[in-house]
Amino acid sequence: MTYPRVASLKTAAAFRAHLDRSGIPLAFDDELAPAGRSPLAQPIEVDDVRVGNRFCILPMEGWDGTRDGEPSDLTRRRWKHFGISGAKLMWGGEAVAVRHDGRANPHQLMMSARTERSIAALREDLVAAHRDRFGANADADLYIGLQLTHSGRYARPDVHDRPAPIAACANPILDRRFPGGVRVFDDAELDALVEDFVAAARRAREAGFSFVDVKACHGYLGHELLGARTRGGPYGGPLENRTRFMRRVIEAIRASVSGLEIAVRLSVFDTIPYRKRAADHVGVPEAQVSTLNSQLSPGFGVVAADEELDAALDEARGVLRMLERLGVKWICVTAGSPYYNPHVQRPAMFPPLDGYEPPEDPLRGVWRQIQATAILKRAFPHMVLVGSAYSYLQEWLPHVAQRNVREGLCDFVGLGRIVLSYPDLPVDVLRGAPLRRGSFCRTFSDCTTGPRLGLVSGCFPLDRFYSARPEAITVRDARTEARSASLAGER
Ligand SMILES: Cc1cc2nc3c(=O)[nH]c(=O)nc-3n(C[C@H](O)[C@H](O)[C@H](O)COP(=O)(O)O)c2cc1C
Ligand code: SF4
Repeated sequence: MTYPRVASLKTAAAFRAHLDRSGIPLAFDDELAPAGRSPLAQPIEVDDVRVGNRFCILPMEGWDGTRDGEPSDLTRRRWKHFGISGAKLMWGGEAVAVRHDGRANPHQLMMSARTERSIAALREDLVAAHRDRFGANADADLYIGLQLTHSGRYARPDVHDRPAPIAACANPILDRRFPGGVRVFDDAELDALVEDFVAAARRAREAGFSFVDVKACHGYLGHELLGARTRGGPYGGPLENRTRFMRRVIEAIRASVSGLEIAVRLSVFDTIPYRKRAADHVGVPEAQVSTLNSQLSPGFGVVAADEELDAALDEARGVLRMLERLGVKWICVTAGSPYYNPHVQRPAMFPPLDGYEPPEDPLRGVWRQIQATAILKRAFPHMVLVGSAYSYLQEWLPHVAQRNVREGLCDFVGLGRIVLSYPDLPVDVLRGAPLRRGSFCRTFSDCTTGPRLGLVSGCFPLDRFYSARPEAITVRDARTEARSASLAGER
């Protein structure tokens, strides 16, 4: 099954006709507001925090830190690009492990006594780039956090292709994907891990970050624990127990690190893991399950059909209620995992190396995350909600973004892959400048394939700096080979 490329839907009428034909209820503004009058240019004030506009840069790792967990020149380049983007909310920069066994790859940043200063300098590089471009006081309404994580099931701290999973609970489908076996965190280890999050949060504050994101998304530990229904003891079973780790981390940071805001990036819904169908390489769910019988297996907010999305969000509502009680207001909404349902997490036309051909029009995946964010925003009007998964919209991204913020469906529009290919998209939109068609991310997924091959991540096809690197050829060859195999399957 192929879907029309977004770039071919050149007018609002053509884009709308395609959405109508496909039954995707995604709304957008036909015209972009002139400079200064865009809803996206409105500042937001929350307690004593002022953020200058409604664009947010989502966290994105580059698999390019040193073995010790310090940033490299490539990391610094990416963060400077975040700084020049014009967006005023920096959601975490990238996932930073709180300790070595929690690294998702041997080149992930890690917060430690050794790395604290270089991570502080990384933040300063971003601020300096922002000031250089937008003026000496431009950072007064720039809000910068650091994402803290333990990679859990997806830890690979020592060798890129040697998983060293420490999961939240057994998972009959996912465990099969780890032939070397899966160890499960015991209760005492989780108790101790809370202290590692606190230590990393303290260092983040010392490094100048205004908030930390206690990451709970994408299949990593904080997320998998939320779905640990089949686990016994204090961290498993009922939602009250499954949220215990998150609660303890937040309370412990509050108790011992002052002057630091806490935020949470949450995969608010999920699906059964997908796999590639042998015949045509299209993604299919690995088991049939309905939202109701998913109550008996691991998973958080598992949805089987779009009609059940609202019901599947019950669990996310439970977590947000708890966070609201704890005084956490800043939430970044995302979904699924790049490892077992990439079409849900980052809708794309072309799959990454370990992915599959899209089982649906990627625009449906974009809509699903927008819809989930809108449902939650309506239920939690006093929380600040950032939406994700807009990159696939390409030329229509600003139109959908403007409408969503104007209608209050989200407070911020989060930008992921598009910032790798077109870092100054936000400033171009805010200034009403012509948009550079050649810079739009076309979702080739090379930035995900690179790391799957143990290479650095970057926009190999569109960012000339990366196109010129030797990794670009390896990544392109891997994509071409995978594509030919899929096409052969289709024939
Ligand atoms: C190369 C790459 C690295 C990513 N790293 C992270 C990460 O460190 N933390 C995180 O929460 N999400 C990460 N993501 C997910 C993005 O933040 C975002 O949710 C996703 O790409 C969908 O948004 P988009 O459509 O704008 O790309 C990453 C995505 C990509 C493509
Ligand atoms: S490699 Fe570039 S074009 Fe491809 S998905 Fe990543 S950012 Fe987009």
